[in-house]
Amino acid sequence: ESLEMEVDDVGLEGFPHYMLKEIYEQPDSLTAAMRGRLSDVDATAVFGGLNLTPQQLRNVNRIVLTACGTSWHAAMVGEYLIEELARIPVEVEYASELRYRNPPVEQGTLLFALTQSGETADTLAALREMKRKGHPSLAICNVVGSTIAHEADGGVYLHAGPEIGVASTKAYTSQVAVMTMLALYFGRLRHLSYEAGQRIITQLRKLPDLVRETLEVNGEVRRIAAKYAHANNFLYLGRQFNFPTALEGALKLKEISYIHAEGYPAAEMKHGPIALVDQHTPSVFLMPQGGVYDKVMSNLEEIKARGGPVIAIAAKGDKEIARLADDVIYVPVVEEFLSPLINIVPLQLLAYHVAVHRGCDVDKPRNLAKSVTVE
Ligand code: G6P
Repeated sequence: ESLEMEVDDVGLEGFPHYMLKEIYEQPDSLTAAMRGRLSDVDATAVFGGLNLTPQQLRNVNRIVLTACGTSWHAAMVGEYLIEELARIPVEVEYASELRYRNPPVEQGTLLFALTQSGETADTLAALREMKRKGHPSLAICNVVGSTIAHEADGGVYLHAGPEIGVASTKAYTSQVAVMTMLALYFGRLRHLSYEAGQRIITQLRKLPDLVRETLEVNGEVRRIAAKYAHANNFLYLGRQFNFPTALEGALKLKEISYIHAEGYPAAEMKHGPIALVDQHTPSVFLMPQGGVYDKVMSNLEEIKARGGPVIAIAAKGDKEIARLADDVIYVPVVEEFLSPLINIVPLQLLAYHVAVHRGCDVDKPRNLAKSVTVE
């Protein structure tokens, strides 16, 4: 019933749906997630509520991230970020599995539970289990005073404001932004240099404007959505930092348009999913500039050779892609570690416009609840 209260409190402000409003709020919600948390003096991130002693922080040699649904995808981006920037081994666990799998957890393990609502039963159970075993257990959470925020030893609030649309959008990008800041923080406790920290901070500060610029693709995405809205299956393919983006893009489409969609690591598609490819099955490719661009391009060519339509999310200025893809959505050029935060925006919009085109109830999709309080 708390959701109903929020719906009454929060207006649509001219948007046709909460989901679209929340997609457009992302420049502001990202600003809020970073407010007061970037220190130029120390070239690191600052968190007020981790509640860990310097000794505990120094002893962290393994991080477990646990969550459900979209929050689990944010955790997966976190795994890539923390391992890359802080060189701490990270494991991502579905909360519903972590509790019963009973994995051996060594000393020096720190748990983060990621949850928009702070009420997800599976995530709460996993947090309690890890706490019971004596591991510091923190929450990355949006809803202030929620059960998980309350029970955790400490944590980080997203400050994204109420999210009404059942399909999570702004909470996801805020979680990824917090993951990026945590990676910076743990990196700076370890090997990351002052200069490297400073460079990351400079990039993070540009993020809200870059997301604002990315939102300019909306009209183009709406056109592309109309073209493919009748497909029964979609593939979403990306690598490394954008493998989780592919998973999250596919989940958004499933949740609100009821189209079957699968996210895969781009190179893995040749080991099975390529059998699904035909002229009616579009593939959405995440094609940021960087180390694996050429490899992803050859995966894209394999799909084209089998008659599959390709929609590419590519960096502005990439002319090569336009020759091969059926449709290209151009997004601002960013460093690879920030690309998940940019690339998810057109995928949120794509799911939204496809769902609207199909006449679906975007804000309240069938069978789904904003927070699931049963295990
Ligand atoms: C539900 C929602 C999803 C959400 C998941 C986790 O299944 O429908 O959109 O990602 O719960 O929610 P949480 O509040 O823990 O992030």
